Amino acid sequence: MDDAIIRKIKKVVSGNFDKSFDHYQAFEDRHHFFADLTLRLAAACGLAQEAKVLDIGCGNGASAAVLCRELECRVLGLDLSPKMIEHGRQLIKDPRVCLEVGDAVNPQAVIEEGGQDFDAALYNAAIFIIPDAAKSMQAAAACLKPGGSIGFSFYPQILSENGEELFPLAFDRCNLPRPKVQVITRYEKALEGLRECCREVTESAWERPFSEDFLVDFFSIPAQSASLFPRLDYEERRQLVPKLFAALQPEAETAKIVWRLATGKI
Ligand SMILES: C[S@@+](CC[C@H](N)C(=O)[O-])C[C@H]1O[C@@H](n2cnc3c(N)ncnc32)[C@H](O)[C@@H]1O
Repeated sequence: MDDAIIRKIKKVVSGNFDKSFDHYQAFEDRHHFFADLTLRLAAACGLAQEAKVLDIGCGNGASAAVLCRELECRVLGLDLSPKMIEHGRQLIKDPRVCLEVGDAVNPQAVIEEGGQDFDAALYNAAIFIIPDAAKSMQAAAACLKPGGSIGFSFYPQILSENGEELFPLAFDRCNLPRPKVQVITRYEKALEGLRECCREVTESAWERPFSEDFLVDFFSIPAQSASLFPRLDYEERRQLVPKLFAALQPEAETAKIVWRLATGKI
């Protein structure tokens, strides 16, 4: 991907998340989802109590806050969206959490001199919207202690009981065009990037039962709905989201939502 396209993608992503912070918080208050996913990712990384963590794509701090609250971690979060950071700073007052505006490819810009001693760099639900994900992981690796971990959790899959991807079926049943790219960086590409800077790469997954209610709430966050209907404005996207997931009612009893996780050690 050339630099001009990467810059353009980042501008769109940042703008989408700037418009998402209140929806994002309402979703998290209701489902406690990003916090739970973060704890799964922390466990997959073998994160120790009181670890020093770089939280890349920290949003408004749901991941940083739960790491601090549950594992006593010190967390430096960075995020492209100034509004998500501003909102996160209003929400989190614990001095062990610091949130900064920054780009995932340049964590050094927000780290104090000599502070390259992080135990882990985590990308909770963020790696798939970072166009230069491999470059970001290389930069994150340079901020870690020897033996430090890098981990990411990925965009959801909706799978039938036979393991078939159900997103395409939902679009087809609604006569809606399938998005050309639902994620900016594919899972395999992110995994390849992780393997380039880590040894002992391990993959795992968090499977949850299909829930139309959860999916509608998740994909009604403006930035998430953009991954389904990139060409439409938010009001149009919001109206289509319930229709899309209602189309999977025949599979609802047996389908699952799968969050893939991958971790490695430098
Ligand atoms: C789905 S949110 C996850 C937020 C947080 N990790 C959590 O668990 O609540 C993804 C975040 O990644 C951020 N992001 C996307 N691309 C980024 C980049 N290149 N650099 C920094 N942050 C980025 C977005 O602005 C967004 O806030």
